[in-house]
Amino acid sequence: MKVLGISGSPRAGGNTDTLLNALLEGAASAGATTEAVHLRDYAIAPCTGCERCRRDLTCTRFFDGMHLLYPKVETADRLILGSPTYNYNITPEMKAFIDRLYPYYRFTAERPGPYSGIFAGQGKTALVFSIAEQKDPVERGFAIPAMQRPMGALGIAVTDILPAEGYFAKGEVAADPDLLEKAREAGRRFVLP
Ligand SMILES: Cc1cc2nc3c(=O)[nH]c(=O)nc-3n(C[C@H](O)[C@H](O)[C@H](O)COP(=O)(O)O)c2cc1C
Repeated sequence: MKVLGISGSPRAGGNTDTLLNALLEGAASAGATTEAVHLRDYAIAPCTGCERCRRDLTCTRFFDGMHLLYPKVETADRLILGSPTYNYNITPEMKAFIDRLYPYYRFTAERPGPYSGIFAGQGKTALVFSIAEQKDPVERGFAIPAMQRPMGALGIAVTDILPAEGYFAKGEVAADPDLLEKAREAGRRFVLP
């Protein structure tokens, strides 16, 4: 069981990274092999909509960090996606990453027409989480669905979500043992058959 954790935070060692580590610790404690990637460490150009991936079945517009991540996404049994909430949404890093998963869609010839995600039926699942400063869930906006819905469209069922509100400064999550234990438990649960 391979779990790939993906942090969309630009802030190294911040709340998103810390919560991701706790989720992966939980998954590892249940026997999974885990890897964390931080999107800020990869050059990922935003998708331009050139549609070349429909023909080439991978991105041939850019030869950037996404090509290091595609094999990791393809071979992972479980994905964990986490982003801080930025203006009611995910960060540009996470958005660019998700948009560049576009080669994994298969479209019919007619436009607009039906499409499917290549991962459908493979049993690959995802957990998504977001951290926000404000405690009112309204202030979290679209961050969770902005990750959850594309995963579903790609055929990767989101089996758990972990919203965390009330954390602003770098390091606040690390000082909350209850949240870290909740994340470890979610990580453990996530990889159980
Ligand atoms: C540009 C920017 C936009 C933000 N927008 C929101 C927001 O819409 N709602 C919210 O509750 N917190 C917002 N925050 C606060 C972050 O979500 C919060 O500080 C989070 O803990 C940062 O996680 P990190 O340490 O992983 O970067 C914003 C922070 C920044 C820098």
